[in-house]
Amino acid sequence: MRVSYFHTPERVPSGSMAAAAVVIDVLRATSTMAWALHNGAEAVQAFANLDELNAAAAAWPQQLCLRAGERGGSRLEGFDLGNSPLAVTAEIVAGKRIFVSTTNGTRALDRVQTAPLLVTAALVNRSAVAKRLLQQAPETVWVVGSGWEGDYSLEDSLAAGALAAALLGQGGMDLKTIAANDELCAAHALWSHWQHQPEQALRLASHGQRLERLGDHDADFACCAAVDSLEVVPQQSEPGVLKSS
Ligand code: MLT
Repeated sequence: MRVSYFHTPERVPSGSMAAAAVVIDVLRATSTMAWALHNGAEAVQAFANLDELNAAAAAWPQQLCLRAGERGGSRLEGFDLGNSPLAVTAEIVAGKRIFVSTTNGTRALDRVQTAPLLVTAALVNRSAVAKRLLQQAPETVWVVGSGWEGDYSLEDSLAAGALAAALLGQGGMDLKTIAANDELCAAHALWSHWQHQPEQALRLASHGQRLERLGDHDADFACCAAVDSLEVVPQQSEPGVLKSS
């Protein structure tokens, strides 16, 4: 298995596709997707385009439909939910399909939608994702950070490093064996530095500071920083549709 890390969707090579792709958006899309599926959502269907989201949601049985999403970290007007992992409680999401669009995370998913194996990861489920990758043993894995509007994000790179550490620990391999680019090695070093205080890293990150400025997101940090708190692996079952696996 050779693993590359791309810290934004824009840096993913065009014209080819890896055997497996892992999309990361720690603050907060892939943390929230994991919690929603853990809490019994039937599926999370991701849209980069809001018009497409609204058309698909309107065609879904309304009693089984929730619209969720944000732009700039703030909940989209008229949507049922924003993008907080604490909001997708079992009482609200169990049995329902969540139609979601976020500033960056859904764009990253769109970029690697053709990967034969596509899963999402965050700090909350990085060991479960590592276990799935080792079970499936794809030859090439592209780990894609969502970043922020084309820029690097500390938190997504931290989670990419945490995933690499789990692959090494579970698989008994060394970094030189699995790392296909320097970005993965740098992400692993980032994790080595922050692994004992991940919430501090999230609050230091530029998007973490953006969320702090927005207010009422404080509890999201502890939830998104809770390493290995979930076993769920959101996996694409059809283009754009993620289900618990
Ligand atoms: C993103 O897509 O960049 C994030 O999910 C934004 C957020 O939820 O704060």
